[in-house]
Amino acid sequence: MILAYFFLGLLVALALFYGLRPFFAAPAPFPQSPRPEELRSEVEMLKSQASEAEGDERKRLLAHAVRLERELAELGSQIPAPRRLAPAPLALVVVAVALLGVGLWRSTVPRLPGETLVTSRNAARELLGLENAAKASNKAADWLAYANKAYDLQDFGRAVPAYIKVAELEPKNPVAVRRLGILLFMGGRTQQAVQVLEIATKAEPQVSEGWLFLGNAYFQLGQPQEAIRAWEGYLKAGGTAKSRVQGLIDTAKAQLTAPVASGQQVYLQKCAACHGAQAQGGIGPTLKGNPVVKVSAAVSEILSKGRGQMPAIQVSPQELKGLLEYLKGL
Ligand code: HEC
Repeated sequence: MILAYFFLGLLVALALFYGLRPFFAAPAPFPQSPRPEELRSEVEMLKSQASEAEGDERKRLLAHAVRLERELAELGSQIPAPRRLAPAPLALVVVAVALLGVGLWRSTVPRLPGETLVTSRNAARELLGLENAAKASNKAADWLAYANKAYDLQDFGRAVPAYIKVAELEPKNPVAVRRLGILLFMGGRTQQAVQVLEIATKAEPQVSEGWLFLGNAYFQLGQPQEAIRAWEGYLKAGGTAKSRVQGLIDTAKAQLTAPVASGQQVYLQKCAACHGAQAQGGIGPTLKGNPVVKVSAAVSEILSKGRGQMPAIQVSPQELKGLLEYLKGL
């Protein structure tokens, strides 16, 4: 395959090179005349005439032939040396070939992000085959096969729409629901991931994958209790990463038993840098006496989404509770 492209590229390069050459050749200052071939044939003719002629006529013809031969010899030494390749057309050809090569490569070989090996190129081709089959039949099973292949290849950009297609055709397909939950989590949409993975683990409690990501998502949301429940589900379902998940469970348990920081501690830790230790303001506006902080829903919204120059700030539900109380008391 690569060889075929290489030869094709080479052919095009040659064609371009010879096609463009006349345009770049420096024009000869004078026409070359007489041409050596003409001289040579004239010499031949003179010699044959001389062999038939006699006396002075013969001498005259031979002398003429010798003169012409000398001229011919001089001409030979003047034959211009082959021209060097001009840099401009050469560069043009190289660029043209490179562009052509890249174009061919991109348009004909299905590629994956970061793909370099021949084996993954084969995988990409297989993926393309599955995609075409799914498009042709529009059956949930075919879309699922394609989606699973893309997921296994970590081509999540293709996996997501394919699983969505499965879910459209078969809204209760447990694999599609689970994988979409996992992909939501990986895409940073943790809240939605939790909702979807809850459904998936209810539908298929024996599949460990769903439990693992459900636990991760809860943990990221600062809900260690729920995370522990989900990770224990993973172990019960026979997940293979036992020691790692046990470690996660231990971490979450430690977090649960640690004393919950007071609202003021949370404030000093996470807000004071911008809003001042006494909430008097700084980079961020004054919070002391600010009516906004009396509205818990508004504060929660600002914390979870960020606002203007203020980034979103992660606080666990317990921390939030204390923090809101502290803010109200300002
Ligand atoms: C990195 C700096 C930074 C941190 C950390 C930060 N904030 Fe802010 N905060 C800002 C800025 C800047 C604004 C003004 C945003 C805007 O409206 O453009 C703001 C606005 C707010 C507002 C809205 C005030 C109003 O009058 O509209 C509230 C409430 C708030 N922050 C609460 C908090 C709390 C609670 C924390 C800690 C959990 C916190 N912020 C942490 C920078 C910060």
